[in-house]
Amino acid sequence: MSDNQASLIAGGKTIDMPVNSGTIGPDVIDIRKLYAQTGMFTYDPGFTSTASCDSAITYIDGDEGVLLHRGYPIGQLAEHSSFMEVSYLLLNSELPSEQELADFSRTITRHTMLHEQLATFYRGFRRDAHPMAIMCGVVGALSAFYHDSTDIADPVHRKISSHRLIAKMPTIAAMAYKYSVGQPFVYPDNKLSYTGNFLKMTFGVPAEEYEVVPAVEKAMDRIFTLHADHEQNASTSTVRLAGSSGANPFACIAAGIACLWGPAHGGANEAALNMLKEIGTPDKIQHYIDRAKDKNDPFRLMGFGHRVYKNYDPRATVMQTTVREVFAALNVQDPLFETALRLEEIALSDPYFAEKKLFPNVDFYSGIILSAIGFPTTMFTVLFALARTVGWVAQWNEMISDPGQKIGRPRQLYTGPTSRDYVPIESR
Ligand code: ACO
Repeated sequence: MSDNQASLIAGGKTIDMPVNSGTIGPDVIDIRKLYAQTGMFTYDPGFTSTASCDSAITYIDGDEGVLLHRGYPIGQLAEHSSFMEVSYLLLNSELPSEQELADFSRTITRHTMLHEQLATFYRGFRRDAHPMAIMCGVVGALSAFYHDSTDIADPVHRKISSHRLIAKMPTIAAMAYKYSVGQPFVYPDNKLSYTGNFLKMTFGVPAEEYEVVPAVEKAMDRIFTLHADHEQNASTSTVRLAGSSGANPFACIAAGIACLWGPAHGGANEAALNMLKEIGTPDKIQHYIDRAKDKNDPFRLMGFGHRVYKNYDPRATVMQTTVREVFAALNVQDPLFETALRLEEIALSDPYFAEKKLFPNVDFYSGIILSAIGFPTTMFTVLFALARTVGWVAQWNEMISDPGQKIGRPRQLYTGPTSRDYVPIESR
């Protein structure tokens, strides 16, 4: 076997396949001709060993706990950058100059308003609807309002729809919250930053001036930065798969939102805080650890474990620091933080979690911060969707810009009945 080739012996034949290398990370065996050569498929449910695409956006080394966006470590971006700058970086490959950042921020700001008729959509939902249900519906509906930017073959259309999605997501998310609490919608205020504007639309009321608390704005912006992209996760792969058929970007992002909602993915931040509330005090932790280890109990420690990270999720480290900053700025304490810290300590010293390499993920601490800021748990995944929109859009653009792009169409190992004749109903 040469350095850039792998061989497979199948059906008595030896098949040589090219091995492709990226800039860092595992090489990939290119199996695209395998079916033509052997009549066999590969089998990898859950894609544990499958690279579904080439991408130059985000890199994760799960064993080392490394996350890079366009090469920049997430810790550095969280400390020194901003969500707008990281959004520019994800979309355009390079960090912006001052002028480029100012222009980009202005463009996004000018797209924050929603078509007024979209407000009537909200009124069709029950007041107690989960805001993620509203997000799926309203984001999907955007294509009915902005069809002047849905020609995906046109790079200008793609750019406009990308900007629209990033800009309108905070407005849509804040309106979902306002609707659930029965308060009037608050229009965007273009004097504010992306994040400050979102806070005002969420927590402001027309009857009073809303003051953005700088520490909260900074923490929220950092949370957005930490969630901006994460390589080929379930929701991003959903966006890519939906987009591979040529569907419009608004429909693709709605599909991503639907996937993100699940508790094994973005829904884990809501589930993690609910779990901490259920545990309550540190003396109950051991009982829940025992349940998480019990194979006959479906309970899992939410906010723990990750398909790719087999080490501490670098985003969880930043999150833990941010909890302390927000508590200090707002002068609040939450006993659940102590419970979370103790839970982490007990879990990490337990052989079950050590052997399976289960560490806190980004969702373990985020709920505590969001709750301190004033968000109800049902909004947590909405905030994740808001921030991840830029990642979805960047990945979707990367895929559509690739001239070799094909519709995503996996195959299967069929285990159903073989061919049989239809039996009339009276004879069954
Ligand atoms: N608590 C207890 N045991 C766990 C946990 C957990 N949180 N996570 C994994 N395990 C165990 C599994 O039972 C399994 O044990 P086994 O090998 O004895 O069967 C083993 O660890 C491997 O778990 P899998 O589910 O096979 O791993 P997978 O990579 O498919 O799943 C996932 C990763 C879904 C994130 C999982 O760890 C989990 O359910 N975590 C809780 C939910 C969560 O926090 N999700 C957020 C992920 S981050 C994000 O999307 C932003």
